[in-house]
Amino acid sequence: MALTSAGLCGLFKSFRQEYQTVHTKTVDLDLTAPSAILAGRLIEELALDDRSYEVGLTTTGRWTLRLNNTTPHASQLGAFPFDKESVVLITGGAYGITCDIAQRIADLSKGKLVLVGRSPLPDEEPEETRSLDAAKLRMHLIAERKASGQPLVPAQIEQNLKRMLKDRQILANLQALEATGATIEYHSLDVRDEEAFGGLIDDVYARFGRLDGVIHGAGVIEDKLMRDKTPQSYANVFSTKVDSAMVLAKRLKPEQLKFLVFFSSVSGRFGNNGQCDYSSANEFLNKLADDLDRKWPGRVVAINWGAWDAGMVSDELRRIYASRQIYLIPVPEGVRFLEQELRLTGHREPEVTVACSVPQLARMVAGE
Ligand SMILES: NC(=O)c1ccc[n+]([C@@H]2O[C@H](COP(=O)([O-])OP(=O)(O)OC[C@H]3O[C@@H](n4cnc5c(N)ncnc54)[C@H](OP(=O)(O)O)[C@@H]3O)[C@@H](O)[C@H]2O)c1
Repeated sequence: MALTSAGLCGLFKSFRQEYQTVHTKTVDLDLTAPSAILAGRLIEELALDDRSYEVGLTTTGRWTLRLNNTTPHASQLGAFPFDKESVVLITGGAYGITCDIAQRIADLSKGKLVLVGRSPLPDEEPEETRSLDAAKLRMHLIAERKASGQPLVPAQIEQNLKRMLKDRQILANLQALEATGATIEYHSLDVRDEEAFGGLIDDVYARFGRLDGVIHGAGVIEDKLMRDKTPQSYANVFSTKVDSAMVLAKRLKPEQLKFLVFFSSVSGRFGNNGQCDYSSANEFLNKLADDLDRKWPGRVVAINWGAWDAGMVSDELRRIYASRQIYLIPVPEGVRFLEQELRLTGHREPEVTVACSVPQLARMVAGE
């Protein structure tokens, strides 16, 4: 599929979930085929009463996608690809599930990890709040406001609390990463900013002379049904993954790169209610991985993660999944899977789906 249509394909996968009475499918046409043949095939496709939602039409036939279980045998696993000399760039790596992966890469390689996030590097937390849990910290913030005569605005208090807890976690994560013996750098920048992000990539090449692997995990969600989405919110979610991926595609030196891993989502593969922007962005990553993997000597792979028991998964999503017996990926399992994927030798796919409860997920997608 042409990359320019990839986002649309993801968008329609979510559309079909939100408007289940409308039959939606994306049809990928091989434009080198004679137009008379394509026109005939397209009319047949429109008349077909099936649940396929992603179809390719070529001169040789009609193609649909099916998930295959490809759990590798131990004999297919080689050595871990990164060592003490390696330099690995990890966007989103100081927080969330990408940080769990960074921890394993640091442990195994002891190499150089360049981490990127928007959060400024936090200052050490003051002694007086360090031992407070979330509930006590909230009380502390309220008391502080009262004492200074500031109005008590609950939303502001919650925002401050969230920030403090995130800063605390980032500091703890960076300390844990450094404790592995790996060399850790943290850069505060927005990956949507081509000048800043591209500049960092150039700087890594200039300073270290190499970049062996990239894990692109930066991402945000702002879930809302399509009818309630604003263009600004759509752009925010989409550009965080897509603009940054295009910077990587442009600035990386493929001849030196062993791995480029995009953190994509089952939402890109299947679509999801309230995630038209996120599905679209992740489906773009899937198709970009397919495209780059054909052209670059190293491996490019998009991993369609199902929900982890960590990171951006909201309480609401947890409730929906629990009601459908869809289990979350335990953190050690997700980390183990990525390590395995990095060690895989021989034939390797550019798009991989990793989720618990795949049959239940498929049923949910089919609207059952
Ligand atoms: N958790 C899951 O179950 C799950 C499932 C499927 C796919 N994924 C994918 O896995 C990745 C990580 O998810 P997560 O759950 O760990 O999310 P998370 O906890 O919200 O962490 C997201 C990370 O991305 C960074 N980030 C966001 N926007 C950025 C920007 N514009 N520039 C630089 N850094 C940015 C954040 O740091 P700052 O806030 O400091 O910028 C943070 O480190 C995402 O791409 C997500 O789509 C996660």
